Amino acid sequence: MESILKAVGLNTFYDRSHILFDVGIDVEPGETVCLMGRNGVGKTTTFRSLIGLTPPRSGKIEFKGKTCTGLAAHKMARMGLGFVPEDRRILGPFSVRENLELGRIPGRHGRWNLDSVFAQFPILAEMSERLGGTLSGGEQQMLTIARALMGNPDVLMLDEPSEGLSPVIVGDMKRLVLELKSADTTILLSEQNLKFALAVSDRVVVLDKGHVVYTGSVGQFQKEDQVHKKYLAV
Ligand SMILES: Nc1ncnc2c1ncn2[C@@H]1O[C@H](COP(=O)(O)OP(=O)(O)OP(=O)(O)O)[C@@H](O)[C@H]1O
Ligand SMILES: [Mg+2]
Repeated sequence: MESILKAVGLNTFYDRSHILFDVGIDVEPGETVCLMGRNGVGKTTTFRSLIGLTPPRSGKIEFKGKTCTGLAAHKMARMGLGFVPEDRRILGPFSVRENLELGRIPGRHGRWNLDSVFAQFPILAEMSERLGGTLSGGEQQMLTIARALMGNPDVLMLDEPSEGLSPVIVGDMKRLVLELKSADTTILLSEQNLKFALAVSDRVVVLDKGHVVYTGSVGQFQKEDQVHKKYLAV
């Protein structure tokens, strides 16, 4: 199948620090691909490279068949690349409803609007007038994902969605990702939680020190004890 999001040979730097080395990523429509690896291996930098927040110094990015290397983040968002960053960027002084409305992207329509988001996230509907800053960590994480959905992305990128959540909320998050997946949402996520990654992904890409060191189906990856030991914090 044709990939919907494809990166080849990404080399990304922060100033003079070379962080990503020839990183390649390939996501097919409807697929859930998980980037894995320990702290500091370059997962967030890969997302930042793809969405144009830290454009790669070399390499090529294609999204929906168009070359878009070096395109600014707001243009990538308008093309349909959704990004939920690691640090939940909820606007504390704005209500849940207002935070969601800020996720709308002009010209992008589809399954998600205020009503369908509230139906998917009843807890957000209940607290729609509450200020974002008063939500718990788990609720804020749900809100950031719901806000990204409001932009009706063609590919949703989630940077460590289970990080810092209690086991119960991790369970909710897992169900949410599985539901999105069963509705054919294309997802690229990063995770350090192996169980979570195995439960939601179709394919896994492992990074180490800015290099892709493993890629395989989740079925293959499940059996790779040596890869888990060597490259993951398990
Ligand atoms: N703004 C920055 N300036 C300089 N170096 C940075 C910057 N952001 C990240 N780095 C460095 O780049 C490397 C990759 O970081 P990155 O955040 O992409 O890793 P990560 O895999 O997302 O880690 P984590 O699991 O902790 O989120 C690390 O060595 C980090 O210290
Ligand atoms: Mg990160």
